[in-house]
Amino acid sequence: MELHILEHSLKVASIEKEGIQICTHGLIKLAFLASKTRCKFFSLTETPEDYTIIVDEEGFKELPESEHISVADATWLALNVVSGGGNASSSQPIGVTKIAKSVIAPLADHNISVFMLSTYQTDFILVRERDLPMVMHTLSSEFTLLRVVNGETVAAHSLGVTNGFVKPKLVPRPIIHPLSSPSNMFCVTSLDPDTLPSVATLLMDVMFYSGGPKEPGASSEDSSHIRFFSFSLIEGYISLVMDEQTTQRFPNNVLFTSASGELWKMVRIGGQPLGFDECGIVAQISEPLATADIPAYYISTFKFDHALVPEENIQSVIGALRTNESTGQ
Ligand code: ARG
Repeated sequence: MELHILEHSLKVASIEKEGIQICTHGLIKLAFLASKTRCKFFSLTETPEDYTIIVDEEGFKELPESEHISVADATWLALNVVSGGGNASSSQPIGVTKIAKSVIAPLADHNISVFMLSTYQTDFILVRERDLPMVMHTLSSEFTLLRVVNGETVAAHSLGVTNGFVKPKLVPRPIIHPLSSPSNMFCVTSLDPDTLPSVATLLMDVMFYSGGPKEPGASSEDSSHIRFFSFSLIEGYISLVMDEQTTQRFPNNVLFTSASGELWKMVRIGGQPLGFDECGIVAQISEPLATADIPAYYISTFKFDHALVPEENIQSVIGALRTNESTGQ
């Protein structure tokens, strides 16, 4: 298996809901007029608390300086596992389940903090640039490490760093942060970039004008319904995560759906904002899912983490994760 270290230098930022207006000029350009920028990695996720933006240095220039924007004080690099020679139809578990034991757990064991972005196409594991030597050391036994330089993949050589002796974790990791499961169901989907203009107005509405409490028909009676929408445009590929109701606003045959038309339920991780230094959170969730062979997507936002699991598995997932919940010592 190959692990690609992508060349984008990424920033993770939070835009307050109140400040979104001053950013829409840049965000619309990044999402819909990407050819007018040199940005190759852009993701926007709206949650009840804010908008999380993950963007490369070129794209970051499109955002204004503002008191409404907080930027995590690190540069992040995206890692991506490429299963060498595997054909697309092979019945591999999708999402973080596939990489939980080979990537997520070893990084957690070496105290390396990650930030996850699953998309329709793949899963990006973001690590801080300064942790890269340690990341490479940790993963070099399991993977062929390749670095992308000017679009070309070249061998990456692990530097001789070690973290000393790291005891492999043999016990299950207790889940530290509180979990909740919103009532809505989600679709992880995509669309052909050529059809983006035909749904751009709709997407702008969904992204920037649908979150308010004044929205007609909003299920305000359902308090566990969560506002969550994620758009990413990464190296020309579009990925969308939205709830089932939102998909119904799209014309037929625009959104890609898998044959089974899967629906996903969310497990939201965190009571207090999770920050960027703590490690092991993704591992606490993804390892039990991998053991149970349950596919999952995983999206970190500025404040909280979000796992998506197949709708039919949500009860067993909650059950399994609850038994791992830390007893708080
Ligand atoms: N750093 C965490 C980990 O290594 C995941 C990210 C949590 N933080 C956040 N702001 N979403 O497991």
